[in-house]
Amino acid sequence: MVAWNAQTMGMDIEVIDHQHQRLIQIINELEWAIQEKPFDREKLKEVLGSMFDYAYYHFQTEEFYLDKFNYPGIVSHKNEHRYFIERYQMLIKLFNTDDDYLEIAKDAQEFLENWLVSHICGTDQGYAALFKEHGM
Ligand SMILES: [Fe+2]
Ligand SMILES: [Fe+2]
Repeated sequence: MVAWNAQTMGMDIEVIDHQHQRLIQIINELEWAIQEKPFDREKLKEVLGSMFDYAYYHFQTEEFYLDKFNYPGIVSHKNEHRYFIERYQMLIKLFNTDDDYLEIAKDAQEFLENWLVSHICGTDQGYAALFKEHGM
């Protein structure tokens, strides 16, 4: 389980903190769905899909403000988002086609816990000061 950590993850920017909290909540929903017995493939599929949709929506929100405020690190930040989308899309594709779907779901959970959490604690923190300068 991933717990929200206001010190390492929080930015005091309401719209962003709220979205990051929701992303962490979905990671935990995935973990619960993986542990459920008997395994429910449809439930796993639903949670994996909701993570994709919400992450996509969240990246759009961030990129909108990164553009608007002319963030200097915008290109590499967008590239990190793009990397996530591609890698995660591949995992969903594997999940849908592989018989070993539970293992794929676990890989996805590990990827989310590593990539998404470190992106929130690392790369995302870089724009916090700029967003606040603009009144967010
Ligand atoms: Fe983010
Ligand atoms: Fe980001």
